[in-house]
Amino acid sequence: MNNYKELARAAISARRMAYAPYSKFYVGAAILSTDGQIFTGCNVENAAYGAGICAERTAVFKAVSEGAQEFEAIAVCGGNADLDVSAELPLTSPCGICRQALYEFGGDELTVLLVQSEDKWTEMKLGELLTLGFGPKNLA
Ligand code: THU
Repeated sequence: MNNYKELARAAISARRMAYAPYSKFYVGAAILSTDGQIFTGCNVENAAYGAGICAERTAVFKAVSEGAQEFEAIAVCGGNADLDVSAELPLTSPCGICRQALYEFGGDELTVLLVQSEDKWTEMKLGELLTLGFGPKNLA
């Protein structure tokens, strides 16, 4: 997928499903496998705060649990604006735990899109967000 607009839209759409009554910060993610499938995720909070999970890990764990293990890109968007907002979102980047979880399956070359609207995103590599990441190769 050269143009990531479809992936950006999938992340924006997934954000509408976010369950974030405590932080009121709603996050959506969409991960693209190398065979062209898109898996989406949102953050799912919990009254016992530590039991919540971020959108990025929801997406990658959904994908792996359905048989995909190689990925090209992930799109992420977040903000405390209304879930249906069509205005531009603030730039949101994956937390440290999610960077590590993604590194397991994407490595340095995974493209990370920090999406603000379906036409605006910042494109990075996971290796830039997580330098000298610890991954499967370290245990080989
Ligand atoms: N969150 C994500 O889902 N992804 C991120 O990249 C940053 C943080 C969630 C976790 C929590 O539900 C809320 O945003 C506030 O931290």
